[in-house]
Amino acid sequence: MAEVSLPFESKYWPYKKYSEMYNRSLRDPESFWDKEARKLDWFKTWDTVLDWQPPFARWFVGGKLNACYQCVDRHIKTWRRSKVAIYWESELGESRILSYSTLYRAVNKFASVLKNLGVGKGDKVALYLPMIPELPISMLACSRIGAIHTVIFSGFSAQALADRLNDTQAKLLVTVDAGFRRGKPLKLKEIVEEAISLSPSIEKTIVIRRAGIAVEMKSGRDFWLHDLLAKAAPFVPPEPVESNHPLYILYTSGTTGKPKGIVHSTGGYCVFNHSMYQWVFDIKEESVYWCTADVGWVTGHSSIVYAPLIHGAAQVLYEGTPDYPAVDRYWDIIEKYGVTIFYTSPTAIRMLMRYGEEPVKKHDLSSLEVLGSVGEAINPEAWLWYYKNIGGERCPIVDTWWQTETGGIMISPTPGIECVPLKPGSVTFPLPGIAADIVGEGGQPVPPGEKGYLVIKAPWPGMLMGIHQDPQRYQESYWSKFPGMFYTGDYAIRDNDGYFWILGRADEVLKIAGHRIGTIEIEDAAVSHPAVAEAAVASKPDPIKGQSLVIFAILKQGVSPSPELNKEIKEHIRHTIGPVAIPDEIYFIAKLPKTRSGKIMRRVLRAVASDASVGDLSTLEDEASVEEVKRAYEELKREV
Ligand code: WTA
Repeated sequence: MAEVSLPFESKYWPYKKYSEMYNRSLRDPESFWDKEARKLDWFKTWDTVLDWQPPFARWFVGGKLNACYQCVDRHIKTWRRSKVAIYWESELGESRILSYSTLYRAVNKFASVLKNLGVGKGDKVALYLPMIPELPISMLACSRIGAIHTVIFSGFSAQALADRLNDTQAKLLVTVDAGFRRGKPLKLKEIVEEAISLSPSIEKTIVIRRAGIAVEMKSGRDFWLHDLLAKAAPFVPPEPVESNHPLYILYTSGTTGKPKGIVHSTGGYCVFNHSMYQWVFDIKEESVYWCTADVGWVTGHSSIVYAPLIHGAAQVLYEGTPDYPAVDRYWDIIEKYGVTIFYTSPTAIRMLMRYGEEPVKKHDLSSLEVLGSVGEAINPEAWLWYYKNIGGERCPIVDTWWQTETGGIMISPTPGIECVPLKPGSVTFPLPGIAADIVGEGGQPVPPGEKGYLVIKAPWPGMLMGIHQDPQRYQESYWSKFPGMFYTGDYAIRDNDGYFWILGRADEVLKIAGHRIGTIEIEDAAVSHPAVAEAAVASKPDPIKGQSLVIFAILKQGVSPSPELNKEIKEHIRHTIGPVAIPDEIYFIAKLPKTRSGKIMRRVLRAVASDASVGDLSTLEDEASVEEVKRAYEELKREV
C-alpha cells in the first residue's frame, strides 16, 4: 500500500482538527447534529433531534422546512441572486447559463405547471430525463410543492422503467422527446409510451422538447412543457413539510430481482448533505464545481442537485459522455469554465488514461484545486495518474465511499476540515458523525489488516428512512446480519494507520462501470428469453469498467447454442434492463455448480469467469466444502 506525501501536507498537518471533531461528534451526536442543522433555514425548529426506534431513525422531528427553499429561495435574498448556479454544457458544446435568479424563476414556473396538472403534497412524480437543466429544475419543483420525485436513469429500458413506476405508483411522468447519446437521438418518449402501457398509475406526462423530433402525443394525457409554461404562475409558495416528509424515492439494486425504492427524508437528508459537502470538497463561494455523474443515480441527487445548490455553489452540468465528440471533452470543459473541484468515477479515469497525456496537455487545468472519485474502488495506478496528470500533483483526491442508502458521502478525506495524508486507493477516514467499523462474521471488530464487513454502528441524518412499502425488506437487508448495526454489503479492511480500504461487495450486487446492478435482476432478464432455462451471472475484473459481466446459461431442451443466439440474448437483456446490463460473455453450459442445498456456488462462477483459481477468491461467503468447490470448479472449467 503505497503512501504519497503531498506538498500541502505541512499546511494541514497534524490532523488534530479532524480527530477532535470526529470524536466530539460520536460522543454527543445529538448536540453535534443540532448545531449542523441550524445552518439551514427552517420554518420551524425541531422538538427532538433524533427519535431512534431501531431500525427506524427520524431526525429533527417536528421541524419544518422545504428542500427547494434551501436550494434557491435563500440565495435569491442575497447577492447570490446573480451568481451562476448552473453552467450547462451540451454534448456538442452549446451552453446555457442559469443564475440563481433564473433557476428560481424556472423552478417556480415548473412548480406551477405541476400544480395546474393536479400534483400536490405527497404525490409521486417520475422523472425520466437526460442531463438537461430541466432535470434539476423538475426535482426542485417537486420538492417545492411537497411532491416526492423518483428519477429513473434514462439508460433504463421500458420494462425497467415500468417496474419502477409500478412500485412507486407515480401519477405523472416528465420526459423529453429525445435526448442525445454520442450524437444520436435517444428516443425517450417512445420508450415511455411502451412503459406506460405497462404502468396504469401514470395519468399524465409532461414532454420537454430537447431534440425537436416528431413524437406521438396523446391528447388529454401528454402535454408539451412549453405549452404549459405559457399558462404558469411566476411564484408558487414553498410548502413547509415536516422534516421526515419523504423528499424522494430512488431505486437501487439489491440481492433479489426486484429493485429497492430507497426513501430519503427532507430534513436529515438536507442537513447531512450540507455538512458533508463542506467537509469533503472544501466548497468556497468562488469554487466552480463539476460532478460528472448522471442525476439518475444517487451521486447526481446529492452531489449535483441538493448539496451544491443548498450551498449556493456554481457548478457545471454536462449532458454527454467523457470521450464524445473527442477524448479531451472533459479537459476541454474544465478549461472552459475554470473548474476548481472535479468529481468523477474511476471508470472514466481509467478510460481516459488509455489515451495518454497528450489530450490532457492540450488544456490548461491549473484552475483545479480538489479532485474526487466515487462509485467504485480506484486502483492506485489510476489514482496516481489522476493525481499527477489532472491534478498537477497539487490537488488532494477525495476518494468518497457511500451508497444510495447513505444519502451522502460517509468515508472520505475531508480537506474542508483538514486534509489527512492520502494513500492511493484508500478512502481514509469516516466523516464526523459516522460510526463506521469493520466486523467479522460474529459482529466483533476485526483487528487491523483483517478483512471484514463494513458496518455503521449508529444512525446518521442522511440515512435512508426505509424501502418504499417494504419495511420488512428494509429490516432484513440492512439490520439483521448484525443486530443494531447498518450492514453496508461491502467488504473492507483497515490498515495499521487506521485507514479504510474498500474491497468490493460481499453480496450479490455488482458494480459495472460504477453502476449498481443486481446479479438476480440480470439472471431474471436472461431466463425471460424463451431459449434460456437457467442462468447465473458472475463478474470478472475489467481494466476499464472495474468489473464486467459473464453469464452462464443453460438452454432449454432442444435448443442448440449458436453465436446468433448469444447475440439475441444480449439484445434481450438490453431491452429488458438497459445497456448497463449487457454481458461481455455468455457461456452455454449443461449444469450449474450448486451446493447440496441448491445454492449456486458463486465463488466457482467468479473463478471460472475471471480465469482465476478458486483459492484466489474470497472465502467469507463459502458454505460448501473445499472438495465440493474444487470439483465443481473443474467441471465448469472443462465446459466453457
Ligand atoms: C461502491 C454510489 C469503493 C460500494 C455512491 C458501495 C465504492 C456501492 C466507493 C454503492 C469507493 C461507492 N470505493 N467502492 N469510493 N463508492 N462504492 O448505491 O460497493 O450506486 O456499496 O452509490 O458502490 O453504490 P451506489
